[in-house]
Amino acid sequence: ARVDKAGHKHFMSKEIAEQPTVISEAINFYLTNDGKDIALPGEGIDFKSLNRLTMVACGTAYYACMTAKYWFEQLAGMPVEVDIASEFRYRQPPVTDGTAALFVSQSGETADTLAALRYCAGKADQILSVVNVPESSIARESNLALPIHAGAEIGVASTKAFTCQLTVLLLLALKAAHMRGKLDDDALTDLLSKLRGLPATLNNAMAIEESVQGVSQSLSKVKDVLFLGRGMMYPLAHEGALKLKEISYIHAEAYASGELKHGPIALIDEKMPVVVLAPRDALFDKTISNMQEVMARGGKIILLTDQAGADEVSEDVWQTIIMPEIDPVLSPILYALPAQLLAYHTAVAKGTDVDQPRNLAKSVTVE
Ligand code: G6P
Repeated sequence: ARVDKAGHKHFMSKEIAEQPTVISEAINFYLTNDGKDIALPGEGIDFKSLNRLTMVACGTAYYACMTAKYWFEQLAGMPVEVDIASEFRYRQPPVTDGTAALFVSQSGETADTLAALRYCAGKADQILSVVNVPESSIARESNLALPIHAGAEIGVASTKAFTCQLTVLLLLALKAAHMRGKLDDDALTDLLSKLRGLPATLNNAMAIEESVQGVSQSLSKVKDVLFLGRGMMYPLAHEGALKLKEISYIHAEAYASGELKHGPIALIDEKMPVVVLAPRDALFDKTISNMQEVMARGGKIILLTDQAGADEVSEDVWQTIIMPEIDPVLSPILYALPAQLLAYHTAVAKGTDVDQPRNLAKSVTVE
């Protein structure tokens, strides 16, 4: 079927707007009828017999893996290794007994990711993949391919595939936590019911678009932007920086908030805005103290937080974008939205070719 822009100016904006719908489709695909458990296709995954998960991907899919590492470690107590496919494939990493190798790819055809999969075949206990195209090479060469149900993604910069990848990876981490006895039935039911509420929250969060548009007008005039985050917001900072450079051609870099003083703080001046991703979670105070270090050096802050967070920060933050409250476990999926919208509106303000950015391809099937 031909996919059109459904009244949107760009595929990217259509795909951003579709996220509540496609995420709910992904959730519904994996939940049992009573909504209390996760049913994986085929033989499923015996997480009890595994002692390590190795996740490999490229680009945005790599940042989905980086986020999932926090979920698998914190919820399921599973050791996780995450790597970029082009590095992993040539490093000759040992794949030890009890390892499941998991490859995340929207297209399922990325050359480096496929090569990394082939390297693990015969070495890992199980080859798993999280893909958007079920008939792709990566899906076909996996023991178990888990679809993300994002639907066709046309914009070169990945948006809905990213949040659907996160959704499926979170479901896997929850399944692993439950099977490994780290999450009891009630805790699982509770998190699953919160996850079912996420599409509605994401829909409400679309209300930030106007204020993001305002901020983006200013962003479109700068040369460099720094993104900071801690914990699960750290991979999101990377994704935000990647989106911005991909479509607006503005140099953007992400740092773990705690690394600020080990280098990037030297760059801070009034010309480089700093996007701080900081929902009011357990790490909020730490991130905010890093934010204050930036402000003390004249840095201009764009703070992405919730109302509780904004209430605690009374100083002169340049711009604050208020997100709905969310369980911290789910925050990476929700905070993908402002990261995407910032990049999108900045690119629109600059007049770049949003859906077909220069030098980039949707699917990189050559090395
Ligand atoms: C290209 C695309 C990115 C994507 C990456 C990995 O660079 O432009 O949006 O994240 O490939 O693609 P995959 O299909 O493996 O997810």
